[in-house]
Amino acid sequence: MSKTFRLGVIGSGQGSNFVAIAEAIAADRIPAEIALVLSDVETSGILAQARDRQLPARFLPPGPFRTKLDEDAEQSLVAQLQAAQVDLVVLAGFMRVLKGGFLRAFEGRIVNIHPSLLPCFPGLQAWKQALDYGVKVTGCTVHFVDAGIDSGAIIGQQTVPVLDHDTPETLHRRIHQAEHELYPRCVAALARGEISVHGRLVFWKQPS
Ligand code: GAR
Repeated sequence: MSKTFRLGVIGSGQGSNFVAIAEAIAADRIPAEIALVLSDVETSGILAQARDRQLPARFLPPGPFRTKLDEDAEQSLVAQLQAAQVDLVVLAGFMRVLKGGFLRAFEGRIVNIHPSLLPCFPGLQAWKQALDYGVKVTGCTVHFVDAGIDSGAIIGQQTVPVLDHDTPETLHRRIHQAEHELYPRCVAALARGEISVHGRLVFWKQPS
């Protein structure tokens, strides 16, 4: 029997994307198991949600910087994910930039979800950037992680209309709902080996 595909999930926030993935696994829609959940925020929802599901969940003290992990934290992150033998690192609302050592250790095996249709609106509060710009359609993107900010090869995208009376909160809520469909679908395709990568181009064996 082949080995189960193992996910390491990392996040800083409420963990709704983690929940969507965990529920898709429980419903046999993703052929994978969650090997480890890590967060740089001790009181985060993602750790609470993981513990509720009896999954290994640990706080990773991030060190003194606001936007990145310090050297020790990044080494610990790599060591913990390697010890858990993860096949794929799933960033689910992780709000720090990851650097060279981590990227090299899991090259081509790190994915992220971003709340806009990249390459539009990389960076923070992408839903607010979209609203302020005045676009009529935005959405979410699942992509491989490279050394840039939200710049890696795109695996999948889902659109969300911007409505006339949207506030940042209402738009973000609908983008979140789209994320909860898109991310499990992309992780399932990766776990099934249905994704191939040619430079920046990502192809699905089954239509996405
Ligand atoms: C999601 O909207 C995700 O796209 C965003 O953080 C939120 C996490 O929500 N990520 C980024 O902005 C990364 N640049 P969650 O904790 O409920 O999954």
